[in-house]
Amino acid sequence: MEHRLVNLTKAANLIRNSNKICVFTGAGISAESGIPPFRGEGGLWNRYDPHILEIGYFLTKPKESWEAIRTIFYDFFHQVAPNPAHKVLAQWESDGKITGLITQNIDNLHAQAGSVKVYEFHGNCDRLLCLDCNKSYPSLSVDLKELPPLCPDCFGLLKPDFVFFGEGIPPLAYQQSIEAASSCDLMLIIGTSGEVAPANHLPHIAKRNKASIIEINREPSPYTKTITDIYLEGKAGELLPELNDLINLNN
Ligand code: OAD
Repeated sequence: MEHRLVNLTKAANLIRNSNKICVFTGAGISAESGIPPFRGEGGLWNRYDPHILEIGYFLTKPKESWEAIRTIFYDFFHQVAPNPAHKVLAQWESDGKITGLITQNIDNLHAQAGSVKVYEFHGNCDRLLCLDCNKSYPSLSVDLKELPPLCPDCFGLLKPDFVFFGEGIPPLAYQQSIEAASSCDLMLIIGTSGEVAPANHLPHIAKRNKASIIEINREPSPYTKTITDIYLEGKAGELLPELNDLINLNN
């Protein structure tokens, strides 16, 4: 059997035999939904300076920061839909295989696909938070023509409710993610460059607790040669349905 099929078959067997899978996803899983990743080919950080997402810059130059944020995250995010990779993961959760899905993505596509135990490590772009009175608003209800948007109640500055560089991780998502990574027997790492801390520590926690690691990516990451047991190179939206077919074939 060719090497690729051997690896796919091994991965499918591990997934079939586990009901304690923790999934860890990054921007790559949403690439086939039309959302550009941050790094690598076509990455946002080739076009924008990442300082637009630094909390210090946002607080001193909210208009400049918001102009980029609106273009990147709000002009089209509401029109995108889950792709086959998100859907297979939702199916595996309802089959009782997945105990938790940790995502660094803020696009809400896992929930839209039907995943329930989703731990949003970097928050979500669906709500805007007033930095003065703490009220939050669905982002679709806020007019983003005039920037920066202000709180309808107290005129404080509204900020997307996702994690900027320099901010802490939402405590509940952090705790749920650590628990999910510590208690799984198999971790699927999908579409992340593994460059951003502290999220990038989670696979190491799983490995230390003796979980097997399957990684899906279009190119090797820092995990590939260190902690990954089975590396599947390619697009998540193609490989996850292939794995699903292999699992169902032998059931
Ligand atoms: P990156 O943009 O750093 O990495 C995306 C990864 O997905 C790369 O390793 C690509 O090779 C891979 N990839 C691209 N297309 C793919 C596909 N179709 N199938 C599988 N893999 C694919 O994204 P993240 O690792 O998620 O933080 O970035 C982590 C954090 O950095 C983000 O959450 C964001 C960013 O700055 C915040 O916004 C706080």
